[in-house]
Amino acid sequence: MLFGATGDLATRKLYPAMLKLYEKGNIREHFAVIGTSRHKIDDEKYREIVEKSLAKESSNKKMVSEFASHFYFVTHDVTNVSHYANLKAKSEELDKKYSLGGNRVFYISMAPNFFGIVAKNLKTQHLLSDNGGFNRLVIEKPFGRDFDSAKQLNDELSAAFEENQIFRIDHYLGKEMIQNIEAIRFGNTIFEALWNNRYIDNIQVTLAENLGVEERAGYYDNSGALRDMVQNHIMQIVSLLAMEQPVAFKDTDIRQEKVKALRSLRVYNVAEASTNFVRGQYGGVGNSKEYRQEDGVPKDSNTETFVAGKLLFDNYRWSGTPFYIRTGKKLADKFTRVDVVFKKPLVDIFSFPQSGSTPLNANVLTIFIEPNQGFSLMVNAKNSEQGFHTEPVNLQFLEDSKRTKETPQPYERLIHDVLKGDGTNFASWPEVASAWKFVDQIRRVWDIQQPMFPNYIPGSMGPVSADELLARDHREWVYKLNK
Ligand code: BG6
Repeated sequence: MLFGATGDLATRKLYPAMLKLYEKGNIREHFAVIGTSRHKIDDEKYREIVEKSLAKESSNKKMVSEFASHFYFVTHDVTNVSHYANLKAKSEELDKKYSLGGNRVFYISMAPNFFGIVAKNLKTQHLLSDNGGFNRLVIEKPFGRDFDSAKQLNDELSAAFEENQIFRIDHYLGKEMIQNIEAIRFGNTIFEALWNNRYIDNIQVTLAENLGVEERAGYYDNSGALRDMVQNHIMQIVSLLAMEQPVAFKDTDIRQEKVKALRSLRVYNVAEASTNFVRGQYGGVGNSKEYRQEDGVPKDSNTETFVAGKLLFDNYRWSGTPFYIRTGKKLADKFTRVDVVFKKPLVDIFSFPQSGSTPLNANVLTIFIEPNQGFSLMVNAKNSEQGFHTEPVNLQFLEDSKRTKETPQPYERLIHDVLKGDGTNFASWPEVASAWKFVDQIRRVWDIQQPMFPNYIPGSMGPVSADELLARDHREWVYKLNK
């Protein structure tokens, strides 16, 4: 059952992802979708919408229309309790028709203020199946706008669904190379044995976007980069990088370790929050409008479009090794990467006054998440010139572009996981709660301080203060412009 079936997310992401699952045989005969929204359309019109959204996905018209024949529409106002009877009747009818065994997925792709009310009504109006099938609730972001509102939402959801029935979408967790972090770490002695504060100097996570706020000013100006990207995507990536090895590769064990890691993240006091986090807002240049001139953005908006910060874990593995994070709109390029900077050898025997050698570089493991998928390891080696000089060389593996293109997209993976009941790549409530508690402290400080905006130019890597954040610790970002 899909709430918000005529919306942007459904047509851009969900239908194409489901078609891929259908093509690959992961869903076939035994599935039906009841799409709902307030629109007054019939099944035929709905199927047209679905097919239209798939025009670029497949040239196999016959298959697309077979697929679309599994879609049904019920006009529905989620706030009107009496409307749920139609949904119930339809789901019982389709359950029989497609032999679904009572298995139900409720996907809420609507504005967040409706999440709680839908969950409640599903329960009170008896839409949850009770004949042995599963009931799973899928929730899109944002999950609250601070800890208190997230807790309230979670309480509402938990009154109708158990935690293991709730799938909180964070589409970054569906990305191939984010999932690969666990493979790289726990599948390789050479990394996991060194994955701690004795050998790692710092870890850097960059989620850069070159687009501005586009048509989403209404949402974005209320949110800002801290809520939009840090609280969810970045905290999830950081927890995968920081966690201990799970007992087994399964959702409950992985979640347990992620939560433990997040709980040892130091929650900053006011002074720490203002020194360890910096924010930015893009200005304008040439034809590129400054953020405050974008449609729908107030002229005096203090919403941040850039965040950089330093995270510290107070645990045995990470004490003393900072994680630096940054994200922003209108930056130099669109990419996501993680740079793990190892400590330099304690003694550099190649560098003595007469040698003319440059000092050894730190080894850096870079995980390329997007658009390239792969990783590289920078090591020091002797170069082939006369004499003895070392230079950094790169050992690199990049997935070829054909395979990158064929890689399942996040929503395909995540919907498949929901159908399998695998919660590995979804955010659990304790993770969300810890992330909010951390982020709330930064927000509190920022809300009382007047920022000097705009403070970075489009096409840069953010404000100077983001470089200063590392320079203060005698470090620098591995990814810099013109390098
Ligand atoms: C979303 C944010 O969660 O992630 C957007 O709301 C952002 O503001 C997007 O643009 C980035 O996702 P991706 O997959 O394009 O890196």
